[in-house]
Amino acid sequence: MMEADKQGWQSNTKKLEAAGAMGIEYSLSCPQGGDGTHGDIVAQDARLTAKIIDWVMQISDPEIPKLFKLTGAVTAIYPIISAVKEVLDRYPGKKAGVTLANTFPTLGFRSGNGKWDEGIIVGMSGEGVLPISYLSLARAGGMGVFISGNGGAMNHHDAANFLALGAGNVQFCTLPERYGYGIIDDLMSGLSHLLEERKIGSVQELIGIAQPKPVTDFMDIPFKHRHSSLKDKDLCVNCGNCTRCPYLAIALDADGFPTIDEEKCMGCSLCVQLCWTNALEMVENQE
Ligand SMILES: Cc1cc2nc3c(=O)[nH]c(=O)nc-3n(C[C@H](O)[C@H](O)[C@H](O)COP(=O)(O)O)c2cc1C
Repeated sequence: MMEADKQGWQSNTKKLEAAGAMGIEYSLSCPQGGDGTHGDIVAQDARLTAKIIDWVMQISDPEIPKLFKLTGAVTAIYPIISAVKEVLDRYPGKKAGVTLANTFPTLGFRSGNGKWDEGIIVGMSGEGVLPISYLSLARAGGMGVFISGNGGAMNHHDAANFLALGAGNVQFCTLPERYGYGIIDDLMSGLSHLLEERKIGSVQELIGIAQPKPVTDFMDIPFKHRHSSLKDKDLCVNCGNCTRCPYLAIALDADGFPTIDEEKCMGCSLCVQLCWTNALEMVENQE
């Protein structure tokens, strides 16, 4: 990187601060970046990310918070957050943190004049990227860097999950784009009700509540604890949809009603979802 790049980041920061910005977010994660050979996105490279953040922090007004916007499109978030933390720890009096994610780089097609449709890089956002953001946050949430949670939150419960995993606040982009700003009232009342239901006194108390061990290890997941069952014979129309069970645990009896082999049932609940008359349910195994 050149001296000119450094000057650009620093002078733009100063301009925004002088103009009265209350906070500045720096996108290091535009998905429409390079040619893919070295990674398309600045925030995929821990060294580059740290370098740019350091340039900004050197001249940052301590009272104007800075957020550095990362990407979920990395194999591991640890090295990126570690590199960021190393820089931010050098400026303890200056307010700064990271924004967890940006849109996810993906390829779409649109019709063109060539032999085949034209491939274009599009940024995927909304519910499709939510589980990726959750996992990144589960890993990064306890690392001691302020995180503004984002990437896929579409309702108050998603936002609550972000906060529980350690985000200090939550950003929404696709949600208000799709439904308008009126949705913010729904988010606030939904979160209030959720906190009341879970007997959590404040948003502050919710932040990081799932840490330090937000993920149950794969080998600790109970093998199976529930199986499907015919809840209401009157609702069953003998369609046989449920016999599409991938574990071959369901067969129809002579009258066309499902019989469930509890030994074979893995508790996946696919049959309950396939049953369009709601005749099946999941029940806890009797130990
Ligand atoms: C139409 C659109 C334009 C966006 N433009 C930018 C941008 O200029 N810079 C940026 O850092 N992120 C941009 N984003 C990413 C969003 O700020 C946000 O990080 C992303 O959409 C993930 O959050 P969401 O799932 O809540 O939408 C854009 C997103 C959308 C949908």
